[in-house]
Amino acid sequence: MSERKAMAPLLCSQTLLSSHPLRVSCGIACVTLAFVLTFVLTLHPSEQGQSLLFDGHFRPKTPQEYEGRLQIHTGVPEEHNETNFAEPALKPWDYEYGLSSAECNASFKELYREIDRAVALKKKRTYVTPMDIDISWKETGAVRALIYSQKLYIIEAKFSGAGYQRTRALSILHQIHRAITTSPSPLPNIEFSFAVSDIADPTHSHTIWALSRLLMDENTWLMPDFGYWSWPLELVGTYEQIRAEMLASEADWEDKIPKALWRGAVKTNPVRGTLMEVTRGKSWADVDAVTWKNRTEVAGSNAVSMVDHCRYQFLVHTEGRSYSGRGKYLLNCASVVVAHKSEWIEPHQHLLISSGEHQNFVQVERDFSDLETKVEELLDDPERAVAITRNSVATFRDRYLTPAAQACYWRHLIRSWAEVSFKPKGWEVSDGGKRRRGTPFETFV
Ligand SMILES: *[C@@H]1O[C@H](CO)[C@@H](O)[C@H](O)[C@H]1NC(C)=O
Ligand SMILES: *[C@@H]1O[C@H](CO)[C@@H](O)[C@H](O)[C@H]1NC(C)=O
Ligand SMILES: *[C@@H]1O[C@H](CO)[C@@H](O)[C@H](O)[C@H]1NC(C)=O
Repeated sequence: MSERKAMAPLLCSQTLLSSHPLRVSCGIACVTLAFVLTFVLTLHPSEQGQSLLFDGHFRPKTPQEYEGRLQIHTGVPEEHNETNFAEPALKPWDYEYGLSSAECNASFKELYREIDRAVALKKKRTYVTPMDIDISWKETGAVRALIYSQKLYIIEAKFSGAGYQRTRALSILHQIHRAITTSPSPLPNIEFSFAVSDIADPTHSHTIWALSRLLMDENTWLMPDFGYWSWPLELVGTYEQIRAEMLASEADWEDKIPKALWRGAVKTNPVRGTLMEVTRGKSWADVDAVTWKNRTEVAGSNAVSMVDHCRYQFLVHTEGRSYSGRGKYLLNCASVVVAHKSEWIEPHQHLLISSGEHQNFVQVERDFSDLETKVEELLDDPERAVAITRNSVATFRDRYLTPAAQACYWRHLIRSWAEVSFKPKGWEVSDGGKRRRGTPFETFV
């Protein structure tokens, strides 16, 4: 046990920092690919249509189709077996950010409930006005932005000295930019503001895009978490990277550690302290507090990287200062997520099912009084536990929490906002000249 704990940070830094055989070969493949593309473009313009890897029409529908096309163009099948591991297949929803609106609707039918709720409310009351998106009420942690003629502009940005607000805002802006640039059809012009604080609006009244909301925050529009771009900490990372590394080391149920894992900062929410007490000395639990030395380094050696969480059968999820951004990572493991009854809502909240044949997680009381019973029940009934993980994987990892789904969510948010909001101005007159409003995304970042 202590050996395993001590190994975790080591494993983590190796995974995240060393040059992975996969990345080395990707590097070679990419260079080769770039060369082939340049060659084709400059010397054989007539063959462009059929020769380019992505000619604008080629849409791989299976991983095999994609790999096949890659091999034709690189000429060399890649060998990934130096360290003897099976590279997991790349699936289209891992990299296809540009699904059409019809594809988004068909593939992720249940994804948009939070947006549709917010739209219905505006239609019932009043539409969004420029006054609604004014962010003077918010001291820090907010950005006002504009999408105009398929470009993103930053009108106003307010950050505190704490670096995390800037990181989060940049992650959000990059995701919006990606959703625009990968959109197969034009998006409407909109002006909006978003908050990156854990608690977006302590007054529970403003119309703003946010990461999470309480039931009473009716005017809050939920946007995807900043982590879908990256949470740039050693123990976390880029969303696609975490997903790929989780998949690469995903084990069968019986090979996972038969315990409920939790690591985190205890101070942010009393439920976390309760969890520590309830699990103290229990053989089925591996629960420990992590204290951060500074923003990037944890003290002690009991930390477990996000990827290594998947090595456990049960993953306990708790709220933090408000929601906890960790939930979406845990739902990418083929493990049973155990969460207390929640107060904070995330965009995928309604997809969590706590009973019946579609059960995809285990819900416990906020005081964890039923945690032990529920974990032990499933330890004794692996078939049911595995059924829950299968439902979770199908709903979250392989559908609603894929990068493709998140890009669809952004575009639905943008279109829906336009439906119930004022038409923004893209130009202003200043110093006697006509200027575009705001700072272009490309310049801002
Ligand atoms: C890698 O796999 C290929 C085919 O599966 C095999 O021919 C080759 O010897 C392997 N290389 C190493 C270093 O194991
Ligand atoms: C997708 O669904 C939305 C409603 O949720 C609708 O407005 C839109 O037209 C649909 N897109 C297509 C291409 O059917
Ligand atoms: C955190 O501390 C470590 C050394 O203790 C240092 O190398 C690192 O740069 C620090 N990070 C920040 C963000 O201050």
